[in-house]
Amino acid sequence: MAEIEIKNLHKSFSDFIAVKNSNLVIENKEFFVLLGPSGCGKTTTLRMIAGLELPTSGNIFLDKEDVSYLRASQRDIAFVFQLFALYPHLNVRNNLAFPLKMQGYSKQDIDTRVMEAAKLLRIDHILKSKTSGLAGGDRQRVALGRALVRRPKAFLMDEPLGTLDAEFRELMCLELRKLHDDIDATTVYVTHDQQEAMSMADRIAVMNEGEILQADSPNIIYNKPKTKFVANFIGSPGMNFMPINQKISPNQNNVSVAGTIINIPTQKDGSSSDQNFLGVRPENLKLVSENGIKGNIFGVEYLGSRKILTVETVVGNIKIRVDSDTNVQINEQVQFNVLNNNQIVFDGSTDKALISEFIS
Ligand SMILES: Nc1ncnc2c1ncn2[C@@H]1O[C@H](COP(=O)(O)OP(=O)(O)O)[C@@H](O)[C@H]1O
Ligand SMILES: [Mg+2]
Repeated sequence: MAEIEIKNLHKSFSDFIAVKNSNLVIENKEFFVLLGPSGCGKTTTLRMIAGLELPTSGNIFLDKEDVSYLRASQRDIAFVFQLFALYPHLNVRNNLAFPLKMQGYSKQDIDTRVMEAAKLLRIDHILKSKTSGLAGGDRQRVALGRALVRRPKAFLMDEPLGTLDAEFRELMCLELRKLHDDIDATTVYVTHDQQEAMSMADRIAVMNEGEILQADSPNIIYNKPKTKFVANFIGSPGMNFMPINQKISPNQNNVSVAGTIINIPTQKDGSSSDQNFLGVRPENLKLVSENGIKGNIFGVEYLGSRKILTVETVVGNIKIRVDSDTNVQINEQVQFNVLNNNQIVFDGSTDKALISEFIS
């Protein structure tokens, strides 16, 4: 059992704020991802949870116990580093045994735990190999094994797949998630890669400039982003934003974008600003032959079964996802419209999503 709570957690380095009054409850057995662009404070947050960095203010609770000022070694948490520092002169077995030897475990306990971890990670056949000769995936498994043998309450991972190539990353994502499920652990996983986060997480906290903007399931993060930043950061490509040059009133159910009337989910509240944005995902736009927003094809990206069109319009460059057999030429004039009712209106003064009948 391991629940991790952070409460008003704050970290500054002289006058620079790296983590801003953050609050989170990471539940027992959750695979929780901290996601955000480089420099947003992910590593600093993780290091404070691990005890490698002290908070400037605020608290960290592990199973309701305040561990904010306990040393890393007293926290029962395992940190898996990005650069997995294995001992190249030791074989796999001794790499796994090392943390246990340091803690004074008996030879028998060490053998049992090493074998258990090696079997879970399917590296029991290479226990006698030197780590210097191992392939990337096996090295990563040995690094995980070193964290696993201690049977910690929680695993913290800081971009653990960062140095692997694309094919290995995908495989290791699956492996890590399976391992997490097999051992009933709580995992806090840091990445800047939204696809990695979406594919692995039970919940994702999206961070920017030291702040946690939203913590929700991948499905909610994708479909009901609370801010423009989250809407744009998630998805490849991210959400389109089209300016609406009017104030939004309560119960409003359509808006004018570039002279075209578009139905929107009925709004509960109005906007504070009279300059707002309609947020639409690329898959929720379609090419039409009349009565749409006009533009010129600026770019076409092939993605196998789909294409992403970039259309130059008076409201900016808009991305549209179409089937790959859609035949369009660069510079061709097209029209497009909104496919369904999944759009979100963002308030122009706060960049926050307005509440509609679909968002509660
Ligand atoms: N020890 C430090 N001293 C000064 N600034 C730091 C220190 N550690 C991190 N920072 C700054 O804090 C911000 C957040 O860093 P970090 O948590 O590493 O971000 P991330 O992991 O999201 O890329 C960055 O601007 C970084 O330069
Ligand atoms: Mg980092």
